[in-house]
Amino acid sequence: MRAIDFQMLLLMAILFGPCPRLGQRAQLPDSLRRHMNRLANPCTDFYEYACGNWMHTHQGRPYRSVIDKLDHVYHGKLVKLLDQTMPQGAPKEPRFVRILRDYYTACRKPLEATPSAEFILRLCRMTDLDGNELSVALTALFQADVLLEITDSNLPSVWAQLILRPSAEGDRNASLYQPLSREQFDQLWRRLPFPEETPDEVWKKVKDLEEAITVKVKAKDAVCWTLNTDNTGTQVPFPVPAYWMLPWPTFETDILYITHLSHHLASQPPRFLLHYLLLRSLHRDGERAPWSFTRLECAAQARLFITHAAVWLVEQHHPHMQANGTLQVLFGELKQQFSLKLRANRNKFSAATQRFLLEKLERMSLRLSILPSAEAVESVEQRLEQHYEQLRINASDYFGNLLTVMEHSRVQEVDPATKYDLHPVKVHGYGSYASPFFMPMANALLVPLSLLEAPLFRPEQRQVLTYSSLGFILGHELSHGFAPVDVHYDARGRPNRSMGISLITSRRYLSQVFCLQRRHGLFVDEKFADLNGLDLAYSAYFEAGSPARSTPAQKQLFFFNFAQFFCSDDRNLEDSEEHGSDRKRVNDVMASFDPFRQAYGCKSLRPGTSSRCQLY
Ligand SMILES: *[C@@H]1O[C@H](CO)[C@@H](O)[C@H](O)[C@H]1NC(C)=O
Ligand SMILES: *[C@@H]1O[C@H](CO)[C@@H](O)[C@H](O)[C@H]1NC(C)=O
Ligand SMILES: *[C@@H]1O[C@H](CO)[C@@H](O)[C@H](O)[C@H]1NC(C)=O
Ligand SMILES: *[C@@H]1O[C@H](CO)[C@@H](O)[C@H](O)[C@H]1NC(C)=O
Ligand SMILES: [Zn+2]
Repeated sequence: MRAIDFQMLLLMAILFGPCPRLGQRAQLPDSLRRHMNRLANPCTDFYEYACGNWMHTHQGRPYRSVIDKLDHVYHGKLVKLLDQTMPQGAPKEPRFVRILRDYYTACRKPLEATPSAEFILRLCRMTDLDGNELSVALTALFQADVLLEITDSNLPSVWAQLILRPSAEGDRNASLYQPLSREQFDQLWRRLPFPEETPDEVWKKVKDLEEAITVKVKAKDAVCWTLNTDNTGTQVPFPVPAYWMLPWPTFETDILYITHLSHHLASQPPRFLLHYLLLRSLHRDGERAPWSFTRLECAAQARLFITHAAVWLVEQHHPHMQANGTLQVLFGELKQQFSLKLRANRNKFSAATQRFLLEKLERMSLRLSILPSAEAVESVEQRLEQHYEQLRINASDYFGNLLTVMEHSRVQEVDPATKYDLHPVKVHGYGSYASPFFMPMANALLVPLSLLEAPLFRPEQRQVLTYSSLGFILGHELSHGFAPVDVHYDARGRPNRSMGISLITSRRYLSQVFCLQRRHGLFVDEKFADLNGLDLAYSAYFEAGSPARSTPAQKQLFFFNFAQFFCSDDRNLEDSEEHGSDRKRVNDVMASFDPFRQAYGCKSLRPGTSSRCQLY
């Protein structure tokens, strides 16, 4: 795969001939240069040019993108803090830090391959057996390293996820993967009866289920699953899934079978299914090795589930005093640039609309850290104590803790009052936490302090690097406030529908919304934010800054460093649903941004037309 790419690139370099390149070694810091692919043509694939060697330089590392790396660094810091035992006589830590430590301690203990039967049976007995309980039970039974997100409608795909986890080929003929005999069932039942039912009743259900999940599926029986027909043609045999304990057929399994199996398992009553899985996991070799999470994994989980406590602890030990000043100044300059644009009033908005937009911009604020600011609450520590007051964490009950933190974060979600002093956290997916975001109902940008680390930020770095990375990021988030979806929230975060309507009575504004839609489909807001964000950072640095900055080399460096924010493995798809792939994000912006094309001596892609859709 890589070899073919390489030849293609070589071919492209030959076909497209020389182009002014970022040649002067002196200009490019080594930390950036090592990620580039010199053979790529910046005019046709700038992402490849700036990031083509990123994957190679970061091979074997546990992260897949720059943002991922920031999380990784952050979790490393947290591990150090959580591994420390408190010296005797040290001042007592707040309770919320102690529960964070307890979570981490429980997570670090080796876990049994068959989870405690009491625990699973306790779940079976819950009156409200919903997504959270099921999620924790399946995580425990199948040793999933990421908490599964279970909703009312996605159970089949959760099962498919478990079934398709990469695994070593198991022996399909092992008795472990055969249906149970009545004798085996009776033995298991003696160890683990379920008093609400008789063994005969349960045995019948077990037998039916095991028969159903070991039959060969014919294509004609499968029409109801609306399968992509392209898939049914390819007969990939699937190996026995990782940590499997259910029957697995000896015939070659294909995508039809996987679909059948996941739907069938998803349709079982949860209580019966959990009990059955527990029986099967007892049937699985009792001698299986315990499993465990690494330090970094446990720190990541602690941060995910008990976020504000983790952030508080890290911020105590790694204050970012200086960064606040730098970023507030930068944010002010970006606002200034955008206000010039708004005042130019290309869309011929009415005076009232103009006031609305300018006031919103004026009042928009930048918050660093997800902790409440000291002005908003009497004391940050008290606020956190109060937030975690009801949360009980047990230093030796990992799965019990999982369930508890999920319940706790659900309670947060439904309480809008806490929304902006303690930002609610989503518990699933172990995504990135370094991402900044715009909060329309607070008219504020939130930039987690974890973003302020190398390679994005070094305290003494050159201005051009700060503007092209953090300047772009702040510009992107600021732009969300003026993108079609969120623009109707006013300066205080209150929705104003009539303002939303009055904007689109401007023909020019509307035509630019359509322009974005035509070129970028569903990603209208994101593309606007990318384009406008880069534009704001660029003008703040080159147009408002000293003229001495405006050298061609500085301009090339600006775009080069911008692109490096997006460097990632090709396998990194985490963010692509919302923003499109990293490669496309860089190349789309570059295709529309004239100063880039001038800096690199590229021809305009759309001669004679305005190269970019510009809402304001
Ligand atoms: C599993 O059993 C099938 C049918 O009984 C047999 O054809 C096959 O060779 C066996 N495979 C292994 C790996 O023992
Ligand atoms: C950051 O700076 C802003 C504006 O100067 C100030 O209001 C805010 O309190 C500061 N935040 C922190 C965490 O120092
Ligand atoms: C919406 O904004 C306009 C312009 O600022 C203002 O006149 C109007 O009262 C606002 N409507 C609401 C419901 O706040
Ligand atoms: C903590 O969990 C363990 C194991 O499940 C249990 O034995 C113990 O009673 C629990 N402790 C508390 C205080 O709930
Ligand atoms: Zn965005």
